[in-house]
Amino acid sequence: MDPARVQTPCYVIDLGRLKKNLVLLGQVQQETGCRILLALKGFAAWSTFDLCRQYLSGAAASSLHEAKLAAEYFRKEVHLCAPAYRDDEMPEYLRIVDHIVFNSHTQWNRFRNSIQQAPRPIACGLRVNPMHSEVKTRIYDPCAPGSRLGIPPEQFRSEELDGISGLHFHTLCELNADSLVRTLAAVEKHFGTVIRRMKWMNFGGGHHITRPDYDVDLLCRTIRDFWQRYPNLEAIYLEPGEAIALHTGFLIASVLDIVHNQMDIAILDTSASAHMPDVLEMPYRPVITGAGLPGEKTYTYRLAGPTCLAGDVIGDYSFDRPLQVGDRLIFHDMAHYTMVKNTMFNGINLPDIVLYDPQQDRYILQRRFTYEDFKSRLS
Ligand SMILES: Cc1ncc(COP(=O)(O)O)c(C=O)c1O
Repeated sequence: MDPARVQTPCYVIDLGRLKKNLVLLGQVQQETGCRILLALKGFAAWSTFDLCRQYLSGAAASSLHEAKLAAEYFRKEVHLCAPAYRDDEMPEYLRIVDHIVFNSHTQWNRFRNSIQQAPRPIACGLRVNPMHSEVKTRIYDPCAPGSRLGIPPEQFRSEELDGISGLHFHTLCELNADSLVRTLAAVEKHFGTVIRRMKWMNFGGGHHITRPDYDVDLLCRTIRDFWQRYPNLEAIYLEPGEAIALHTGFLIASVLDIVHNQMDIAILDTSASAHMPDVLEMPYRPVITGAGLPGEKTYTYRLAGPTCLAGDVIGDYSFDRPLQVGDRLIFHDMAHYTMVKNTMFNGINLPDIVLYDPQQDRYILQRRFTYEDFKSRLS
């Protein structure tokens, strides 16, 4: 990655790294017969979809805009799963999606007649909540007490499944295959007899399959074993978002100023709040090329954003030499949950979106945002 070859701030998606992830996901599909969908909520840079669709089976949407994007640019299976659907959007969904997952029996009953009259066959499923938490961060745990996500076992009406062909659960976040094993045990404990009546299962997202320490063998064994236990199933779906784009993207930023208040503070042209919101929300500390923990190297700085938010701070990092205005920093792992989540808070412009083609050593600008993009959202 050569930070001098782009304007900052700028997200760079490395197509070589993306392909490496896709090849691995393709192997999982081949070895297990499962179908892997790209969850657009995590990564939706559609200029990469022609590459993604060569390896993946389709896309998972959670809104009308995502479903339209999937139908227009992914052009394979389009799956839909959201906590609730609007009456006025359903007719458009019915023209473009292949699967709809409902989060409650009431939602299914509300729309079942219109689905029967849809212009295309649509497989319908119910999202279940196995009441088994693997995720430690509360706001990312769909099984936390009081969660609205998925039907809890005691609310599930197994006598009302006419027209339902599958079950969906999504309970993981950045987790390894052992978490899936424990989750499946909980799903089967509560819903095993229902699964025997289904044609397909969707294991949701949160499978960190492309992380180096992910136990791919265990995942494959788990899927194959599940299939052996439920030979009635015609399809098993996984819908990761993060695993597709993990370690494929960078955010390149420049130092705008260095100020001092009890410590050195570098103000950058990128913002935690506007351009990498998960740094504050999750929260997490992004890796920066050549930087260490505070005090680990000679020169320590607080890296902060250009917005007015006092807490727009990426973190404290140390460097081998003093930072200077104009220096460029490379933040790692910035393809997923960034472009899909960023904002123009304070009117700060969004970073460019650039694809890097390692075979031709080319940086290809996909999108540069303008004042018009900011203005058009506000009146
Ligand atoms: C229903 C559903 N499917 C899939 C995903 C994708 O999860 P991840 O990007 O962690 O793999 C999410 C994320 O929140 C989700 O809610």
